Amino acid sequence: MTFRTKLGAVAVILSTGFAGAAMAQDVGKAVEARQSLMQLYAHYLGTLGGMAKGDMDYDAAKAQAAADSLLAMMTADQSNMWPQGSDTEALGDKTAALPAIWTTYPAIADKGKAAAEAAAALASAAGTDLASLQAAMGGVGASCGACHKDFRQKR
Ligand code: HEC
Repeated sequence: MTFRTKLGAVAVILSTGFAGAAMAQDVGKAVEARQSLMQLYAHYLGTLGGMAKGDMDYDAAKAQAAADSLLAMMTADQSNMWPQGSDTEALGDKTAALPAIWTTYPAIADKGKAAAEAAAALASAAGTDLASLQAAMGGVGASCGACHKDFRQKR
């Protein structure tokens, strides 16, 4: 799949998912799925961050694999993971997803698209050399933080 096609898919996924057409589904499972996906983002970003910081030796093949995997996770189908009524007001401690996700929609879709673009840039740089990996890391980290700042409850 090309970069452009993937970004198109992200936009579609987010617009159908966050629009929140009421669907009969298990809200708890949807929350678990999106939290698990976020954990995978953190897993792959952690590997890349370890190399970027020098805690781990830079290995071009491993860096490329981690960055490709991160991009795949960040462009995976989330259309059933964000149903209406799965925010902190409805579910309390079970989620950190703020009601603003749904009340300001599609603002979150823009954050998701920016994050996928940053991940695509990282995937084009990570396997080149350490300096390229380091230069592309900040954009992804910032894009995670930008979405969390507006839409994730602080713990
Ligand atoms: C488009 C918005 C958005 C982007 C981009 C985003 N996140 Fe999240 N993230 C959220 C929301 C919302 C939650 C809360 C989900 C919940 O608790 O239901 C969350 C939760 C998490 C969690 C906690 C998961 C758990 O087990 O409760 C981690 C870890 C995380 N994000 C990591 C990341 C990383 C790393 C990135 C970037 C590579 C990222 N996120 C990008 C919106 C985003």
